[in-house]
Amino acid sequence: MIQQEIVLNKPDDMHLHLRDGDMLSAVAEHSARDFARAIIMPNLVPPVTTVQDALSYRQRIFAALGGDTSFEPMMTLYLTASTTRYDLEKAAASDMVKAVKLYPAGATTNSDSGVRDIQKSYRLFETMAELGLPLLVHGEVTDKEIDIFDREAIFIDSVLDPIRRAIPELRIVMEHVTTKNGVDYVASADSNLYATLTTHHLMLNRNAMLVGGLRPHYYCLPILKREEHRQALRAAATSGDARFFLGTDSAPHLSDAKESACGCAGVFSAANSLGCLATVFEEEKALVNLNAFTSINGANFYGLDINDVKIRLIRTSEPAIFPEHIGVGTETVTVFDPGMPIYWHVDHSITL
Ligand code: NCD
Ligand code: ZN
Repeated sequence: MIQQEIVLNKPDDMHLHLRDGDMLSAVAEHSARDFARAIIMPNLVPPVTTVQDALSYRQRIFAALGGDTSFEPMMTLYLTASTTRYDLEKAAASDMVKAVKLYPAGATTNSDSGVRDIQKSYRLFETMAELGLPLLVHGEVTDKEIDIFDREAIFIDSVLDPIRRAIPELRIVMEHVTTKNGVDYVASADSNLYATLTTHHLMLNRNAMLVGGLRPHYYCLPILKREEHRQALRAAATSGDARFFLGTDSAPHLSDAKESACGCAGVFSAANSLGCLATVFEEEKALVNLNAFTSINGANFYGLDINDVKIRLIRTSEPAIFPEHIGVGTETVTVFDPGMPIYWHVDHSITL
């Protein structure tokens, strides 16, 4: 018999872009509705590099939610060439800051302040290991001559593995892992290596973006990969393995900025991720492991209590209807459309 409902501890989104200003005001409620907490990415312009920046950004997030404090933004610092030991000590001493994010310079949206010479950051990585502060990595090399579809695999060999060998005590999350290489690397590690997986990489391969017309709303970084990689991601996500957890990488851009001759990278999936994920787990006959992926594994990694609040997802006979767009002033952000009917949605009519 088809399962018709599933109750989850309220999920945590361990990789989320909320932006700032009008965009923040428009998108924040969509995460707060379905998620209890989120790891907030620091790639604003200028980036969030100090605890002081992070705390004021956190206040702006609460203000955007109208003072609702039931959603907890967990802040991160953006590692730059100017980051100091003092910045890291302050971060480790602050309950509100949970991790430090490494963007190789030029890897993705607003990453110009990122690290150019990773060797120069090794002392900071040692400090983070001492302080127990996790390092979140955008795992792609940025050398111009490296093919975009190979950038994650090459990052593992040329950047990540050397860091792990030099500083094995450093706790690392490979953010938005998108390849079988990444999954296998994480699965083969004895300790201190974890990965987040996005909703859209579990649902789509690169054909969805490129065949029968170019679909800019599927363009994101790391870029969608071939089917064998998607299958590896699905196996990891649905396995229950505690090293893999949800980070939607919901990354809103104005629709016009994506539907452009040079479109921005990012998929806005905060509004419908959970229905999509229930679909993936149902297809993989692994609904029993959905709660581990959305609500347990990530919390355990960050040393947090599992959320007491519960949410219910229901399966309906008609496809769920999600908004196509949300408004940002006079403009819009396009909501992730996986291109297939989604029969699951979060039942917001009850509190459990
Ligand atoms: C993100 C963004 O727009 O901030 N874009 C994306 O495609 N995922 C940056 C990132 O996480 O790489
Ligand atoms: Zn991201």
